[in-house]
Amino acid sequence: MASIVWFLLLLLNIAKSCQGGITSHYVRKMEASMDMPIETFPQPLGDNAPEQVHITQGDHIGRSVIISWLTPMDRFPNTVTYWPAGRQHNHKHKARAVTTYYRYYNYTSGYIHHATIKKLKYNTRYFYELGSHKATRRFSFVTPPEVGPDVPYTFGIMGDLGQTYDSNITLEHYISNRKAQTMLFVGDLSYADHYPLHDNVRWDTWGRFVEKSTAYQPWIWTAGNHEIDFLPEIDEYTPFKPYMNRYHVPYRASQSTSPLWYSIKRASAYIIVLSSYSAYGKYTPQYSWLEQEFPKVNRAETPWLIVLLHSPWYNSNNYHYMEGESMRVMFESWFIENKVDLVFSGHVHSYERTNRISNVRYNITNGQSTPIKDTSAPVYITIGDGGNIEGLANSFTEPQPSYSAFREASFGHAILEIKNRTHAHYTWHRNHDNEPIVADSLWLYNRHWYPEEEHSSASNMV
Ligand SMILES: *[C@@H]1O[C@H](CO)[C@@H](O)[C@H](O)[C@H]1NC(C)=O
Ligand SMILES: *[C@@H]1O[C@H](CO)[C@@H](O)[C@H](O)[C@H]1NC(C)=O
Ligand SMILES: *[C@@H]1O[C@H](CO)[C@@H](O)[C@H](O)[C@H]1NC(C)=O
Ligand SMILES: *[C@@H]1O[C@H](CO)[C@@H](O)[C@H](O)[C@H]1NC(C)=O
Ligand SMILES: [Fe+2]
Repeated sequence: MASIVWFLLLLLNIAKSCQGGITSHYVRKMEASMDMPIETFPQPLGDNAPEQVHITQGDHIGRSVIISWLTPMDRFPNTVTYWPAGRQHNHKHKARAVTTYYRYYNYTSGYIHHATIKKLKYNTRYFYELGSHKATRRFSFVTPPEVGPDVPYTFGIMGDLGQTYDSNITLEHYISNRKAQTMLFVGDLSYADHYPLHDNVRWDTWGRFVEKSTAYQPWIWTAGNHEIDFLPEIDEYTPFKPYMNRYHVPYRASQSTSPLWYSIKRASAYIIVLSSYSAYGKYTPQYSWLEQEFPKVNRAETPWLIVLLHSPWYNSNNYHYMEGESMRVMFESWFIENKVDLVFSGHVHSYERTNRISNVRYNITNGQSTPIKDTSAPVYITIGDGGNIEGLANSFTEPQPSYSAFREASFGHAILEIKNRTHAHYTWHRNHDNEPIVADSLWLYNRHWYPEEEHSSASNMV
């Protein structure tokens, strides 16, 4: 009897690994991930020169931008001057920032400025200037097109970046990709908490490190566990203190009560950002907000429904295995009912893409806890492979579960090119290749307008 059971189990296992996806056998050089030294990130020249410049969307529809920066010595000037490119004799506009600073144990931050500039024209390059006299610095960005169902738009996706030599390669590769217009960042920014007393100087160096991208295109922020900075041993009791002081998001525009969860519309996408490290049980603020948020999504206006959160719900790596499970239990049925197209997560320092599957039938007595194919389900992408100091998560569960379509322990980033209401092209780029090389790709079909089954392209058949 027992041997028959074993035999059946064996058969099941073989079947399982046959249905399963691809575990890439790409062989990479395993180098230690080391933080770049502090001297790599000097302050810009000039008295009180503005630094750590970063921008993000400033309202719900993309006509406003939050410009944030830091000045080390003096609170003033705390204004930004901006004007649309191209026209002669343009009137220059000025906006005043809200200025703040914070203390973290014995660290005192510089002056942190957040200026929201409003009523911008769509699809327009704007220049902006910060600082004064010899310390004036000029940057520019392009506003998105007006929200609409067939507006093409290209997003980059990155997570768990940190500030190592590998992080530098990830960022440089991303910047060299000229297509991406906005970054969807899935959390874990600076890894300052890797240092004794969570040395907040490492928040400053991170701000300088990423400026060459964050000053020129919006980064849509998600909070990860390395943003919590909760350290009672030194009386630091306020979770997310450095993160929330430095990175502002337009949460009020989506009726959220916390910067840790919010939504924006951009081009043809509706993007919902959730917090894996804030309460999400029934009756909590995040739960109530999300419950009211889904009915507001109009797929005739924004066909692409994308969710960003830090801790993945579907992850077949041994690292952080099932850490996202309790949130999945709370929210997955809503994702299926509302036909979310894509969920991007970080946290696990490797890359993985799932098939469209769901696991919402289970209750505590029925035993039905196996993910099944579901055409209404999102594709889940784990992209925590930015290159931080903790290194790669290179131990996958075996056999590869049937929900996992492709997985590989390499650093990299992804690009999502939305073409129209039905089609989007998704690619993943590993650091050890040149940027144009695609290590995983898929034509994604919109769940509302064209809910057909997708087929992995040949390029990932390694
Ligand atoms: C903060 O305290 C630590 C440990 O005592 C010390 O090494 C560091 O230099 C101090 N930093 C500042 C800015 O005073
Ligand atoms: C980071 O990358 C850039 C561009 O490739 C390179 O010039 C720079 O030297 C790198 N920084 C470090 C510390 O390796
Ligand atoms: C659990 O699922 C089983 C089988 O689908 C069903 O019969 C039962 O009513 C469910 N229990 C509850 C409390 O919903
Ligand atoms: C949408 O984009 C895809 C991919 O570029 C294209 O094949 C398709 O024809 C487009 N649909 C429409 C209605 O233009
Ligand atoms: Fe994380």
